[in-house]
Amino acid sequence: MVDSLRVFTGTAHPELAKEICRYLKVDEGAADVSRFPDGEITVKISENVRGCDIFIVQPTSAPGDNLLELLIMIDAARRSSARRVTAVIPYFGYARQDRKDQPRVPISSKLVANLITTAGAERVLTMDLHSSQIQGFFDIPLDHLFAAPVLIDYFQEKRIENLTVVAPDVGSLKMARAYAKRLGASLAVVDKRRTRADDTEVMNVIGEVDGRNIVIFDDVMSTGRTIARAATALRAQGAKSIYVGVTHGGFAPSAGKILGEAPIEEVVVTDSLPPRDIGLGDKHRVLTVSRLLGEGIRRIHEERSLSSLFV
Ligand code: R5P
Repeated sequence: MVDSLRVFTGTAHPELAKEICRYLKVDEGAADVSRFPDGEITVKISENVRGCDIFIVQPTSAPGDNLLELLIMIDAARRSSARRVTAVIPYFGYARQDRKDQPRVPISSKLVANLITTAGAERVLTMDLHSSQIQGFFDIPLDHLFAAPVLIDYFQEKRIENLTVVAPDVGSLKMARAYAKRLGASLAVVDKRRTRADDTEVMNVIGEVDGRNIVIFDDVMSTGRTIARAATALRAQGAKSIYVGVTHGGFAPSAGKILGEAPIEEVVVTDSLPPRDIGLGDKHRVLTVSRLLGEGIRRIHEERSLSSLFV
């Protein structure tokens, strides 16, 4: 059917695509995404998509095959005469190197933006970019959703008293301020210094945390060290309970141990990346962003405003 909405997925996070389809009440798009015997990716769209409005759901987290699958699927959709192809990227990977802050470094996020555009995507729908200026790396329309409504609902229901929202570094301050406003909480920030690519050191806690209950918000978690060090510093300054809310749980293998040893009540992440058991048991909760992304897709398809999804 001309202009019909179709949702496809690669192999990075098919469960999320399934939930999005359930929300949209559409069948999952039929595609075979597999490997040649030598490991190269092969894609075949197994249904007629001429004139369709196609959404391809795929986080571009490591390994690089996730990005490559997305690019190849976009190419397949274009060559199958889709009317429009939108890349739905719940987690935009390769976002950390977004400026030339040292000699001889790449701007990986610009490169990835170029690749997605060159492959033939006409729009991008993504969520909680590591830095919002990455939007400008695309010369095609990009809708940037926030997981905040999902995380805020969760923490509002907890009715935590004497709440202070903490930004684990200066880069997260703007995001934390928005959370603090919505939760009616005060705001503090951890002055963090990155000592290595995978480690940080807390210099200072700026703001009143003594006797307060805390939620630390961040966009992404990897080794968990940033959050663990922040939690330890906050506890040393007299913080009571410490919760964590993070959009993208891109956990490194050591994250469970590092977070488990920190003074943290609960680590809450979304399913923008495939949920992983990191050994924290009840202290680890995953909230779904499938309805948020599904609604974004519906509104793009119907050419309606997405603004109300931002609050
Ligand atoms: C840094 O700018 C990010 O917002 C995260 O704080 C950081 O990527 C987390 O990494 P890790 O969990 O390895 O400390």
